[in-house]
Amino acid sequence: MKIVTRGNPSELGKDAGRMAARSIREVIERKGQANIILATGTSQFETLNQLIQEDVDWGKVTMFHLDEYIGLPESSPAAFRKYLKERFIQKVIPLHAVYLVNGEVDPVGECKRLSEIIQRNPIDVALVGIGENGHLGFNDPPADFDTEEPFIVVDLEEQCRYQQFGEGWFKTIEDVPKRAITMSIRQIMKSAQIICSVPDRRKAKAVKECIENPVSNIFPASILQTHPDCICFLDKSSSALLGNLKAEVN
Ligand code: GLP
Repeated sequence: MKIVTRGNPSELGKDAGRMAARSIREVIERKGQANIILATGTSQFETLNQLIQEDVDWGKVTMFHLDEYIGLPESSPAAFRKYLKERFIQKVIPLHAVYLVNGEVDPVGECKRLSEIIQRNPIDVALVGIGENGHLGFNDPPADFDTEEPFIVVDLEEQCRYQQFGEGWFKTIEDVPKRAITMSIRQIMKSAQIICSVPDRRKAKAVKECIENPVSNIFPASILQTHPDCICFLDKSSSALLGNLKAEVN
């Protein structure tokens, strides 16, 4: 895993978004089309903002959605489908195809539907974040590192729900759903390239734990250490607690 630190979230997002665009362009040139995964949440604001300004032949790009709450209407300000439509899809249309996770239908059926589609579409570039509890997608600790199912139903742990509340997406903690559909760890790891955007002081502890500890499902994003082509963009605040790796940071 390569670590890059930038001064602030805006610089981080610019670099991560530019790198994602460059990779997508290269894949399109090589294969004629590209399959990507997009995450949501506060950590992706600047990265997506840069990505939509890039020169990419979006009509050759198929987009997969990383995770979504179960039972939350798409009209809710916290719904990730709403987020992706407003911050990405509507800005780059037409994409070749878009596969959003629908949390308002039978979740098991939805996982099956998406799993079948993604198995036919190997992912070239995945944009992800890391949660305050070290989660990747909605794979909260202890994450299932073994399941081969591409999409799974998960229970959200307390800290994850408090993070969503704390970021202002919900009016009360009771409003935060207790279950979600997420792409599994193994499916995320199948992506040819993973670009991770992790700004903010709130993430410093999770970043340290996931980068400096041995790989463990207690720190789900630590699995990224084993990926052959993963680059993690941090900012000054999120990298603040890194110890011995700090020398490698550029
Ligand atoms: C969020 C989302 C993910 C995101 C990760 C980091 O809650 N479910 O798509 O990658 O967890 O989120 P945030 O940017 O809000 O810290």
